[in-house]
Amino acid sequence: MKHLLTLLLLTFASTLFAQQPVYLDASQPIELRIDDALSRMTAAEKVGLCHGWGKFYSGGVPRLGIPGLWMSDGPHGVRAEIAWNEWKNAGWTTDSCTAFPSLTCLAATWNPLLAEKYGKAIGEEAAYRGKQVLLGPGVNIYRTPLNGRNFEYMGEDPVLSATMCVPYIQGVQSNGVACCVKHYALNNQEVQRWSVNVECSERALREIYLPAFRAAVQQGKVWSLMGSYNKFRGTHCSHNDYLLNQILKKEWGFDGAVVSDWDAAHNAREAAMNGLDIEMGTSQRPDKGIKWGQFTWDECYLGNDLLKAVQSGEVPEEVLNDKARRVLRLIMRTAMNPNRHHGNQDYAAHSEVCRQIGDEGIVLLKNEKKALPLITAQKTILIVGDNAVRKLTEGGGSSELKVQHETSVLAAMKAEFGDRVQFAQGYVPGRTDYEREHSIAQQVTDSLRNEAVEMVRRADVVILVGGLNKNRHQDCEDSDRRTYDLPFGQPELIEALTAVNKNVIVVLMSGNAVAMPWEKNVKAIVQAWYLGSETGVAVTDVLTGRINPSGHLPFSIPVNQNDCAAHSFGTIGYPGDGKTVEYKEDVLVGYRWHDTKRIPARFAFGHGLSYTTFDYGKAKWEQQGQDVVITVPVKNTGKVAGKEVVQLYVGEDNPTVLRPTKELKAFEKVLLQPGETKEVTFRLTPAKDFAFYDETKREWHANTGHYTFYVGSSSADIRQTLKFDL
Ligand code: BGC
Repeated sequence: MKHLLTLLLLTFASTLFAQQPVYLDASQPIELRIDDALSRMTAAEKVGLCHGWGKFYSGGVPRLGIPGLWMSDGPHGVRAEIAWNEWKNAGWTTDSCTAFPSLTCLAATWNPLLAEKYGKAIGEEAAYRGKQVLLGPGVNIYRTPLNGRNFEYMGEDPVLSATMCVPYIQGVQSNGVACCVKHYALNNQEVQRWSVNVECSERALREIYLPAFRAAVQQGKVWSLMGSYNKFRGTHCSHNDYLLNQILKKEWGFDGAVVSDWDAAHNAREAAMNGLDIEMGTSQRPDKGIKWGQFTWDECYLGNDLLKAVQSGEVPEEVLNDKARRVLRLIMRTAMNPNRHHGNQDYAAHSEVCRQIGDEGIVLLKNEKKALPLITAQKTILIVGDNAVRKLTEGGGSSELKVQHETSVLAAMKAEFGDRVQFAQGYVPGRTDYEREHSIAQQVTDSLRNEAVEMVRRADVVILVGGLNKNRHQDCEDSDRRTYDLPFGQPELIEALTAVNKNVIVVLMSGNAVAMPWEKNVKAIVQAWYLGSETGVAVTDVLTGRINPSGHLPFSIPVNQNDCAAHSFGTIGYPGDGKTVEYKEDVLVGYRWHDTKRIPARFAFGHGLSYTTFDYGKAKWEQQGQDVVITVPVKNTGKVAGKEVVQLYVGEDNPTVLRPTKELKAFEKVLLQPGETKEVTFRLTPAKDFAFYDETKREWHANTGHYTFYVGSSSADIRQTLKFDL
């Protein structure tokens, strides 16, 4: 009897199993599951996958038990929950996150292992919070120091950003959470970001602006990508056939889903035909007279309009099937992925990752007479400046974060030095506000400055913690900076402080270069980015020498704004004539411009000092099959352990087209104990690594001829050169 029961049960179970639809059977290959799901769906259900059903939620197929996708900003932490259909916080109490350092800081570490750790940790928090898609990383190229969103990106060099974004993506996606790499493409300014039309050469597109996206797709295997607001060659990037269909999907083989930036879709047929898969953020339809507040989600362009267009044959059914297939793939890789992690909100472990990235990303720009690290004999340490106490995780736009904790520089320095640390506000920038700037009465500015100057007279060392912040027109989405200068009267403040005290150190928090006419008057300058939850701890690590700084600049710091390529051609080069912006500098972006035009930067791309010194021995190259292998011994000649970023640049000596003097091709961060020497090895494949994009043949091409290898510690500090004939 017992056996009979078991047999019956087993038969029942196996019948059940046999009837389980393939799309729900996680042991089946993903493409089979997608085929099966598609075969069961109506056209309306397929359309339902292609648009938002909430501010951060896109549709699934409820009838089939296929969940939709929860998305979240942004690149630096998992954003607080937003109301279903309004731009306001949902008011949860369980949505505090760890704030990771900004992506410029990550790039400044030049350490791909840290990018992987970053991705894994932020992915764990996203999984824990039930997110399927994390809206990041941002890999737009830093073209001008005025761009309000540079802090969300990885600097001015395509090889550096490509190398750093790949492990970030792999780290996030190892949790079963998709990255959505953004903003594809050419979203290099916030002024008129919704409409500006970018015109640039095919070479600049291929050599400068696309490589990081391409690496995200082909090496990082990113599962989704966000189309940007701006236009390229006349068409909005979120429905740009050339960028999305021709390059991304056909040429690069992207098999994921293209998500629009929020409210970046403008018409049903063009969006559908030109490669957009998921429309997000639309909340009104002016073309139909539907205002904000009356809008329902199926009124998205890729909602009812798409359905009608498919039914009338205006949009072929295969186009809809392709979209549905891509979105289902994204769902299977995330929400319906049997290996998806539950994730965790391990603040302690993730804070440790923040600290390591901060420690390695902070850049020591200048250090005269060994002003740093601080020596313990200093009795009074005066900290001046709003950024020493400000919550810099707030503001900035969509990357704003609600943090579980954030340690300020003042708090961390007090924990270290106790009462020896004093504080003066020095300047005031007003409340964090995304919408508008707050004006500050001159009286307030003057009295804060005077108070600081009085205190400075009595201090052994002064540390000004300033820079930008995340206010509108500082480092903030939807607005660019108005000038290259430091804001809120800081240049005058620095002048006043240095007039009465010779021992002033400046710590800058920003995602952008700033003008430093006061450079000669200060002893040391530290570029400290936005460091997230462990801000004060990481800054204190470097100031005290507990950590030997090893960050290097991911962008150039020009002396004057007009030394920057984008600003060398008048308004048409930036911010444009109201309609179009022309990238007239072509491929000469950042150090490529400074080098080729012989306009020295104040601090060059790749620059970063250490508390020790490194000696570069004789570099050599040898041919190994198709490859050339370059080696250079690097020795730590100082008294403390340190990490050096060894950079390899390549230049073609007599190019047939305009080429930069040299371009970064490889780099390695190496840890050296005092007295230790290590040999650093780089492997290049000339056919690929020496190539430029040939616009006439529309392919990559490397000329035969003479090349130079430049090995150094920055783009301006070349220690070894080698000649090579291809
Ligand atoms: C930003 C995106 C962001 C999205 C959702 C847009 O305004 O450009 O970067 O992911 O909003 O918040």
